[in-house]
Amino acid sequence: MITYATTRRLTPTEFIDVLTRSTLGERRPIADPEAIAGMVANADLTVTAWDGDLCVGVARSVTDFTYCCYLSDLAVDTAYQRQGIGVELMARTQAQLGPRCNLILLAAPAAADYYGRVGFDPHPRCWILPRDRRPG
Ligand SMILES: CC(C)(COP(=O)(O)OP(=O)(O)OC[C@H]1O[C@@H](n2cnc3c(N)ncnc32)[C@H](O)[C@@H]1OP(=O)(O)O)[C@@H](O)C(=O)NCCC(=O)NCCS
Repeated sequence: MITYATTRRLTPTEFIDVLTRSTLGERRPIADPEAIAGMVANADLTVTAWDGDLCVGVARSVTDFTYCCYLSDLAVDTAYQRQGIGVELMARTQAQLGPRCNLILLAAPAAADYYGRVGFDPHPRCWILPRDRRPG
């Protein structure tokens, strides 16, 4: 049976572990302990899915809870995928947000078709400024 938590903070080790088991670890800085510690400590909202003591899914967001919520990392252990856990993690994330607050994200290549399938609209004017480039 899968249980969900909205207030339980993951340890850096648990976060790296579920990222790795989902394959999202290939696209996240799991070899950089300082980055992982910052991601865990400074997230505004972390919803997790558990099979007993094993974290099998995570939705980690940065948000003001009012206007925008950036869903940075959605990851489900490969052994538990396609059982509705990803949708449930997002529904529980959304349930924490105010009525005007949209979920926003960048899809990983492996999930390019996923978000449209589960109700998201694509946005043609999303922009990224890499950290090593100054604006202007
Ligand atoms: C993408 C991911 C989070 C989806 O989680 P999940 O728990 O497997 O997804 P769900 O069970 O909620 O799937 C809901 C629906 O989307 C479909 N779906 C699942 N993964 C999909 C994918 N990668 N592409 C397209 N459709 C997908 C499911 O088949 C399901 O449809 P159904 O109800 O008709 O069967 C999970 O596959 C994952 O962690 N992938 C690797 C990491 C990754 O790419 N994360 C996204 C970062 S942006």
